[in-house]
Amino acid sequence: MTMTRNWRYTTADLPKLSPFGSVQTDRISLSQFDGSAWSTPQLIPAADFALHPGSHCLHYGSSCFEGLKAYRWQDDSLAIFRPDQHAKRMVTSGELLSITPPDESHFIEMCKSVVRDSADSIPPAPGALYLRPVLLGADTNIGAASTPSSRSIFYVMASPVGDYFAGGERALRLLVEDKLPRTAPGFGQVKTGSNYAAALSITLAAKKKWKADQVLFCPSSDVQETGAANFLLIDDKKIITKPLDDSFLHGVTRNSILTIGKELGYEIEERNVTTDELLKWTEHGEAALSGTAAVLAPVGSLIFEEKEYTLCNNEPGPNARRLRQALIDLQQGVAEDTRGWITRI
Ligand code: PLP
Ligand code: COI
Repeated sequence: MTMTRNWRYTTADLPKLSPFGSVQTDRISLSQFDGSAWSTPQLIPAADFALHPGSHCLHYGSSCFEGLKAYRWQDDSLAIFRPDQHAKRMVTSGELLSITPPDESHFIEMCKSVVRDSADSIPPAPGALYLRPVLLGADTNIGAASTPSSRSIFYVMASPVGDYFAGGERALRLLVEDKLPRTAPGFGQVKTGSNYAAALSITLAAKKKWKADQVLFCPSSDVQETGAANFLLIDDKKIITKPLDDSFLHGVTRNSILTIGKELGYEIEERNVTTDELLKWTEHGEAALSGTAAVLAPVGSLIFEEKEYTLCNNEPGPNARRLRQALIDLQQGVAEDTRGWITRI
């Protein structure tokens, strides 16, 4: 059902929403687990959120998060993309970090409630409302280093966003890092802040020295992912990407692109790729980053051992553009949702 609203943003306002995530809506949805049950979610002013200084999450890293988007379609109706998959991934993250996670329906209901509450702030395409569900260990015993938190806090905040990478749709520049890992072994599949903190100094150095947009982590020559997105090789016939294991984040966008790509007739190869194969691939193929924030962002150059390798003349390639458009058409309700990926609000 559509309704008339006083929309806060037009397409012309999208530059004001940059950098990605810097503008946020005023209210969050909050629920707490007291060791036995979750409280009824409440919409509260974001400014009223308070955390005890002794909270487990602040001392022992018991925190994880998600990132998903709600869209305002051309007819002004609202939709969230694959919230069930993000809920499932938060359950995995919570379990691996010993934090009690919300179940799928609790997660989805809170996301919906925030979208309804912040609906006026959803910008039109190519913008979206980025939802950031956060799960925290809430016990306040500061000696609890080797004890899981019995209490959890779960909240969902929202941010009207435009493009993640500054400069719009352009080919990205990646530094290939073949020694340092992005995460501790086994924790790549966990969406926790410490993974991002660990990768930050490596990314900052790559930005400074090489003007790289992202670092592509390939420890021991195993091509994994970048600091904020999954990595795919694409050409006219196939899409190649690493098979799911515990070394990298299992992207919802990655899964969506593989599914859409298969239906468009691409052969899907989920297999490991070495840095040698990656560099050889640049001679004919395309590469792209997939992620909720990144959407499907084409890669124009790779820097490895002080040498630059260009893909597709450093321009967005035709296959990456085709797949990106197919994904956007689904998210925006232009293409029919035949797989139940869209949750209408
Ligand atoms: N890998 C990392 C490290 C990320 O931060 C993200 C973004 O969430 C992804 C991959 C892509 O995941 P998704 O497509 O579910 O957003
Ligand atoms: C996302 O795409 O949702 C992410 O979490 C990337 C983030 C670093 C903005």
